[in-house]
This record gives sequence, C-alpha cells and structure tokens, in this order.
Amino acid sequence: MSESVKTDIDLNEYPHINRGLEGIVAFSSNKSSIDGQKGELIYSGYNIETLAENSSFEEVCFLLWNDRLPSQEELEEVTKKLQQHRSLPDPVKDYIRNTDKEGNPMTVLRSAVSMLEDYYEDQNGELLDNAIAIAAKMPTIVAAFDRARKDQEIIEPLTDHSMAHNFLYMLNGEHPGEQASKTMDLALILHAEHGMNASTFTCRTICSTESDMFSAVTGAIGALKGPLHGGANQEVMKMLLNFDEDPEHADPADFVKSKLERKEKVMGFGHRVYKVLDPRAVLLRQMAEDLSKETGHENLYEWSQTIVQTMHEEKDIDPNVDFYSATVYYSMGIPIDMFTCIFAMSRVAGWTGHYIEQAENNRLIRPRALYMGEKNKAWTSIEER
Ligand code: CMC
Repeated sequence: MSESVKTDIDLNEYPHINRGLEGIVAFSSNKSSIDGQKGELIYSGYNIETLAENSSFEEVCFLLWNDRLPSQEELEEVTKKLQQHRSLPDPVKDYIRNTDKEGNPMTVLRSAVSMLEDYYEDQNGELLDNAIAIAAKMPTIVAAFDRARKDQEIIEPLTDHSMAHNFLYMLNGEHPGEQASKTMDLALILHAEHGMNASTFTCRTICSTESDMFSAVTGAIGALKGPLHGGANQEVMKMLLNFDEDPEHADPADFVKSKLERKEKVMGFGHRVYKVLDPRAVLLRQMAEDLSKETGHENLYEWSQTIVQTMHEEKDIDPNVDFYSATVYYSMGIPIDMFTCIFAMSRVAGWTGHYIEQAENNRLIRPRALYMGEKNKAWTSIEER
C-alpha cells in the first residue's frame, strides 16, 4: 500500500462548494415563486394575497397538485375525496393511543404517516390519490394524539365541512365558530408551499430515488421538525410566554439585545430568501393583532411589536412566517407543541405537489461532498489503537 497522505485542502480553492446550497437552482418547478427582494410569494400563478382573500385550503391543494385552479365540479370532487379519506386505520389509532403521552407531536405525526403506507389499500393508485389520502389523514393524526395524551376519547372525523373546521372539531370535541374555521383555513393556505425549503427538498430527494410518497412525506416531516425550519413557531411562543413567567426576561427589548450580544438567533426572524418582510408575516400580523385582542392576549402582540422594532433597529432583520403564526395559534387555544404539526398539515400540499412534479420528470438527486480526510492509511490492529 502506498504511504498515507494528509489531504491538505484549501477550501478557498473550491468556491463552487456551496454550504447550505444557498442560491443553487436544482429544479425547475411550477409550484411557487418567491421574490425575496420584493416580498412576493406566488403559488402556481396566484399571489398569496389573492389566494388568502379568495380561496380555501382545499382549493389550494388542488392548485398545487394540478398547477391550475379547479372548476366548481373539480373542487367539489377533491373536497369530497379529502373528506372521505380522513379516518385512520385501527393500528394507527392504536399506536396513537399507546405511544408516550409526553412525546413530541411531530414525532408521533412522523411515525403515524410512516405507518399509513402499510394500511393504504390503493398502493398502486394514482399519485394524486396518495396525496389526497396523506393530506386528509394528517389532521386526524394530530388531533387524535392531542386527545389521547389528555386521556380524552379520540373523535372520529366529520365526513363534511372543511379541513380547517374538521380539525378544530376533532381537537376540541365541538364545532368551531365560523371565524375560528376561517382563521385556521387561512393559516393552512399561507403555509402550504414555499419553494425549495429544507423539507420540500427532502421530499423531492426521497422521490428521486423512486421511493413512495409516504416515505417522502415522512422524511419531510422530520426535516420540518427542526427549530431552524418549522419548529421555530413553538420557540417563538416559548419566548413570548417567558416575558410573563420569568422576570429576568421581563423586557422584550433587553431580551433581544442580550440575545444578539451573545450572537444567538431570535426565533421567528430572518429568512434565507426574503430580504424584505415575508408577505405571509404581513397577513399573519393582522390576524395576530385581531385575535390577541379578541381573546385577551393583547400583551403577546405588544411584546411582539417591541421585539420586531428592536430587531429592526439592532440588526435590520424582519420577522418571518413563524413569528406571528405563534400568537395566532396560541390565541386560538392550540397547544404550543402542536404548532409545527399545523405547519405540516398545510405544507403537505406543497410536498406532495413537488413529489408529483419530481416523479413526472425524475432525475436522481445526488450531489457530492469534498473529502477532507486522510487517504491510504495503514491498518492498525484493534489492540494497538
Ligand atoms: N436572529 C438573530 N440574527 C439573525 C437571525 C435571527 N433570527 N437570522 C439571521 N441572523 C443574522 C445572523 O446572525 C447573521 O448575522 P452576521 O452576518 O452578523 O453574522 C446574518 O443574519 C445571516 O444569518 P444566517 O444564519 O447566515 O442566514 P441564513 O440564511 O442561514 O438563515 C435562518 C436563515 C432562517 C436559518 C435564520 O434566519 C434563523 O436561524 N432564524 C431563526 C429560526 C427561524 O425563525 N426559522 C424559521 C424560518 S421561516 C419558516 C421556514 O422556512 O421554515
């Protein structure tokens, strides 16, 4: 064997190594367009503000699966199918009932979605049918776990009403008011799709190996769970509640300043793509303001505004989608550790849309890494190490 060689690599000689794949365009897609300079988000041709004003989550699902809006008949059909597929197979319900009650709801969601494949009868069906089945069942899993961990009876899904209405019904055991359903529907619309974020990239990567959609969504849920992605909304809420509970953090402006001094991230701020205010944050800010006042949580909104102002002055960084969605969900009475699950229940529309798009024109996703270690080392027996 030739002599061991220390790979002495100067990373400056590899400007094409792109940590975090920032700015790399790896796919063409019809799903969404993000203009980070203008603060513009478009789903398959329609600005997010237009969809927020006129559409429903079911219609947005159709849009992201077909790259066009449905006719009345098509919308009724997809809505009906989404309603029909809401119930869970018994073994999945048993898992939810018997799993650790202290467990992370995203872990339970990830495991339950993974299990669904085993009990999905139409294994060789259309990809669109898989997408409908997964999207329809995710809210049922989330609500069922929340009830099971509180020793409450799991509520069977309704076979009518919107996904937003049904989710709140399964969670609370009573029909929500029109305003609550509308708010939830809007939150689902706003989180449904966002280009090549980490979870969508994960989903497409799994699809590119010709693995199934259940596996791809399972992987995507795992990616979304992290605090730098979907997990941020829970962290935002914990931060806001600290001002109530912990006198040491009583002043939001001082809290932010000391975090920045310690070079720590403030959750719910910053974005890889948006260099101006995230348009979803604009819509959610209004909802957060209205809801927090309505439900007697106006202090949350006031602290939020102080944090936003301090972040702007100190670092010129704007809030992202997770910052205000935290106050919206909290004001609606949703448990904090469920926030990221709601993000997943919505983003599954985008994930599955991307899965279908990837499958239609697939190429295995397989980047490379620059090896920095040694080469040709002599073997040392285990006793001598
Ligand atoms: N708090 C404080 N400073 C920040 C923050 C923040 N939240 N975000 C970015 N910065 C600073 C960072 O310290 C750095 O400053 P400097 O140049 O002085 O060292 C600069 O901005 C660039 O930061 P970066 O981490 O290199 O930027 P990125 O593109 O890798 O980060 C991000 C994007 C979302 C990971 C980051 O902004 C972050 O960690 N935010 C907090 C977590 C969060 O809210 N995540 C939700 C993202 S939106 C929903 C989603 O897509 O899932």
